[in-house]
Amino acid sequence: MTPNVRPLVAGNWKMNGTRDSLDQIKAISEGVKGDLSEKVESLICPPATLLYVATALCEDSPLWIGAQDCHQNASGAHTGEISADMIADCFGTHVIVGHSERRTDHAETDHLVRAKAIAANAAELTAIICIGETADERKSGQTLDILKRQLAGSVPDDANAENTVIAYEPVWAIGTGLTPTSENVAEAHAFMRAELTRRFGDEGAKMRILYGGSVKPSNAKELMSVDNVDGALIGGASLKASDFLAIYNAYSEILA
Ligand code: PGA
Repeated sequence: MTPNVRPLVAGNWKMNGTRDSLDQIKAISEGVKGDLSEKVESLICPPATLLYVATALCEDSPLWIGAQDCHQNASGAHTGEISADMIADCFGTHVIVGHSERRTDHAETDHLVRAKAIAANAAELTAIICIGETADERKSGQTLDILKRQLAGSVPDDANAENTVIAYEPVWAIGTGLTPTSENVAEAHAFMRAELTRRFGDEGAKMRILYGGSVKPSNAKELMSVDNVDGALIGGASLKASDFLAIYNAYSEILA
């Protein structure tokens, strides 16, 4: 937690979900309607095919709907891509950029991720910028160097606490069931906080830094209680409304 910062619990559905899955989004949108929503924000990023119908379903809910990626250009001859404006046009509010699966599968660089974050902000979307080390980088003691380089390269110069969220996702923890220890998470998040504050001053001090990688109901409270952890980015466990809501509701204990 960071004092005076509203946590964000975000789900990344990746390439999962068809119209049948909309009942899970509906259940989440109902489940986050209580008092906790005044203190904790919630977001689901379904595949782009469900974006418009999902935002329509959530009209009367505090649940935000976002996308998983956007192109760096506003429009043009880029077959198969979607622009930040198109996401905003579907009433999406956030977009994930630089997820490790895109960095790996599509060779996305820090430079490109930064361009996507700029495009997202230009369309008035909040960019969720993902960073994190691989298993080899952690083993060889490079974790903090990698985080420093990715923050410097991926986060735009005019980032602020409104238009930008950082998601720390150790690549080796994504989809594996493995998580870093609380001490490792605390060290990484304190380091990122110091880097962001040095570069962005007050805005960096209150910019949200999420933890992601194998977050589930059983470990959410411990991970989200760590200093400078301002929420979670959840893959697999966000597909089931009951799991996502259990993680979200962990904040009723953390904030008690
Ligand atoms: P996971 O994915 O929760 O399934 O590990 C996290 C992510 O990739 O954002």
